[in-house]
Amino acid sequence: MSDKLIIFDTTLRDGEQSPGASMTKDEKIRIAKALEKMKVDVIEAGFAAASKGDFEAIKTIANTVKDSTVCSLARALDKDIDIAGKALKNANSGRIHTFIASSDIHMRMKLQMTPEQVITQAIHAVKRARKYSNDVEFSPEDAGRSDQDFLCKLIEAAISAGATTINIPDTVGYNIPHQFGATIKSLIERVPNSDKAIFSAHCHNDLGLAVANSLSAVLNGARQIECTINGLGERAGNTSLEEIVMAVHTRQDVFSCNTNIETSNILSISRLVSSITGFVVQPNKAIVGANAFAHEAGIHQDGVIKHRETYEIMRAEDVGWHANQLVLGKHSGRNALKVRLQKLGIEIDYETEFNKIFKKFKELADKKHEIFDEDLQILVSDVQIHSTNIIELVSLKTSSQTGKKNQANIVLSIDGKNNTTTAQGSGAVDATFIAINNLIEIEPVLQLYSVSNITKGADSIGEVSVRLEHNNNIVNGQGTDTDIIVASAKAYINALNKTLKNKNKVHPQI
Ligand code: KIV
Ligand code: ZN
Repeated sequence: MSDKLIIFDTTLRDGEQSPGASMTKDEKIRIAKALEKMKVDVIEAGFAAASKGDFEAIKTIANTVKDSTVCSLARALDKDIDIAGKALKNANSGRIHTFIASSDIHMRMKLQMTPEQVITQAIHAVKRARKYSNDVEFSPEDAGRSDQDFLCKLIEAAISAGATTINIPDTVGYNIPHQFGATIKSLIERVPNSDKAIFSAHCHNDLGLAVANSLSAVLNGARQIECTINGLGERAGNTSLEEIVMAVHTRQDVFSCNTNIETSNILSISRLVSSITGFVVQPNKAIVGANAFAHEAGIHQDGVIKHRETYEIMRAEDVGWHANQLVLGKHSGRNALKVRLQKLGIEIDYETEFNKIFKKFKELADKKHEIFDEDLQILVSDVQIHSTNIIELVSLKTSSQTGKKNQANIVLSIDGKNNTTTAQGSGAVDATFIAINNLIEIEPVLQLYSVSNITKGADSIGEVSVRLEHNNNIVNGQGTDTDIIVASAKAYINALNKTLKNKNKVHPQI
């Protein structure tokens, strides 16, 4: 019988640490529910000490999610551990993940502590975390660049203090697969009490090796992998959940363990995370990219038609492709929509949200012939985003004429009060953004603007992503509409709303 490989998803914590990927509480809850449905074992729901909003989000996820363990990150500090314990109080199964840096450079330059002091603080933190939960994870941050003799001592002390999972982070993505695997093997062999804990890997993708390093860790005894949907995360990101799960699943001839993940949910959760964070999935991304199962060259198509295994090592439907058949149209009624939402596993509040979603669905069906699953995901996001907004788009009128400046006339509701203005710009989008800036009190810098289509055809919903920077705070915003200018205005307003809500957040690793 093969071992269980624990999947620890950190999309809501490390994923959220990537610039611009901040999520609202409601968005985090949606993702957490989708992760639970996909049978993720542990959901790292955030860093409770980061802000009041993060604390509330973890608390709500801990109260809502029943089948997955809910985890909060905490530095090895009393105040962080206490607040994490408080956030997880009602969890069916809660874990505190505490960490302290162990590499020479981090101990000297960042912590300004001696190795002995680090060991003492780690022991204290783990013991304190055990007061709140029997499930305590300890990470020596930057383990990938730490002295191995010191790591052995630190890990032994953490396990003796009560840590049940030992996570080995390659914090800066410096390791090479055979070397990282050897580190895991050697730690398991050398730490005298290693049999009392599960060893885990947490790899960053700075050299594009996060998945390879994680797989090497598994081959050398790690039984938990920390990963994120679409590989989201600090800098070049973390190990991608979909890639690690499918590699282990597809190569059972190589791995003596497997996950519990419901793989057919992978594509829909990838799209959910992408649309919430605005991090677009590249077309050639393994498993979830638009081209991952597309066979362009005629010769390949011919091969696949004759016998699919000539060019396919996985079945597209096993990760959720082809589930997005034509679903609904103009004449579909409330019940058809309800059934489809349930089938897609989209959880909404039927009392407060369904009528709004149905209204938007009808409006969209008037403009667009065929409505696909992806369109429904977007409609639901749109309705849920609006419920907590400070700024709302009421109406927008733009005019364009060749050789003339474009003009935008916009009405925004700000804190429930309508405000109107007109502005000119070098294009309709520019005029719209200038008009919005005229009505708000902050002046953000537009760092990124991109447009893509959600489904096929000229009547497809267009999705616009923007990235705004204000006072060193970077946020992404998304907007969707069949009209690209309206989608642009919505994206800009979405980012502004996040900017206004996203102040004063503490980063765990600085
Ligand atoms: O990359 C890292 O070291 C981390 C730790 C907090 C586990 O994210
Ligand atoms: Zn990390």
